[in-house]
Amino acid sequence: MKSTILIAQKYGQADVLEFITNELPPLSAGMARIHVKAAGINPIDARRMTGEFKHSPMPQAFGTEYAGVIAEIDPNNGIWSVGDEVLGSGGAFTHATVIDVPITNLVKKPANLSWAVAGTLAGVGQTAMTIIDEMGPAKSLLVHGGSGGVGSITIQLAKEKGIDVVATASASNQDYIRDLGATPVVYGDGLIERLKEIHPEPFDASIDLVGNEDATQASLATVKSNGFMGSTAGKRLSSSKIQAVWVKKKPSNLKYVVERVADGRFSWVVSREYPFAQAQDAYRDILVGHTKGKSVLIFD
Ligand SMILES: NC(=O)c1ccc[n+]([C@@H]2O[C@H](COP(=O)([O-])OP(=O)(O)OC[C@H]3O[C@@H](n4cnc5c(N)ncnc54)[C@H](OP(=O)(O)O)[C@@H]3O)[C@@H](O)[C@H]2O)c1
Repeated sequence: MKSTILIAQKYGQADVLEFITNELPPLSAGMARIHVKAAGINPIDARRMTGEFKHSPMPQAFGTEYAGVIAEIDPNNGIWSVGDEVLGSGGAFTHATVIDVPITNLVKKPANLSWAVAGTLAGVGQTAMTIIDEMGPAKSLLVHGGSGGVGSITIQLAKEKGIDVVATASASNQDYIRDLGATPVVYGDGLIERLKEIHPEPFDASIDLVGNEDATQASLATVKSNGFMGSTAGKRLSSSKIQAVWVKKKPSNLKYVVERVADGRFSWVVSREYPFAQAQDAYRDILVGHTKGKSVLIFD
């Protein structure tokens, strides 16, 4: 079986992206071969493309999450069959038409979930669950960048636990933040004053999904001295009080979020769908950094 894979042979803007088609080797033990139907596009993909994250040798491939149909699997695996609809992350670069992934990472795609939605939940869902686990007990939470993918799910997980959430976003996403259940605040000049006015008591915790100095200073000024301050941005920050948070991939965590999106308890926005052939446009847009929810590549 062949796979068409999105790759780059050098770092740069979206025009470094190209497609190659390879014959896949025989499927290894413990793996499932998936026909990809949809795959979310995350900031990490674009940041690897530009060279901000130099993780892999060239040529590099992209994509961390997928939804698709099992094309091949060990018939004695005990759970899954060819034709099952699944989603997940880990074990393969997913911006490709066919991928091999560990059977242990597979999560069933609920029938009522569209491919576009299913293909965008693994990264944000598992990251948001990691944030909630790592911040520990809290009654109040400040989210920097609440309108993006990770922020949207983090707000809803926190609200489910009865946590009072204040979240920053651009002016155009204030209503969206309110609909997710948080109190919205516009980021930018004067942020600390606006936060203190809206939430005079210090926060128990904050999570920075942006990684800029405004977010760092606002957390330092508004979170209790013994509170949790985390950042997923993977950038060097000016304060060592902000702890790096890295996603822990756990299919049980993903299943938890998927069930809530599928039954309508959580809302989720796929802001834009791009045919796989238009991946360059998708990456160009992701670099701008104002995606509401998540964007997705759609495969035939
Ligand atoms: N460490 C890990 O394991 C891990 C895992 C997943 C993601 N991440 C990282 O976590 C971050 C968030 O991911 P995501 O998928 O949620 O990103 P995203 O969907 O692109 O969301 C970005 C958020 O940042 C806000 N924003 C943009 N410019 C801003 C500015 N100048 N000041 C304040 N806020 C601004 C956006 O708000 P508006 O759209 O309203 O402007 C939006 O809410 C990314 O850096 C990503 O690479 C890390």
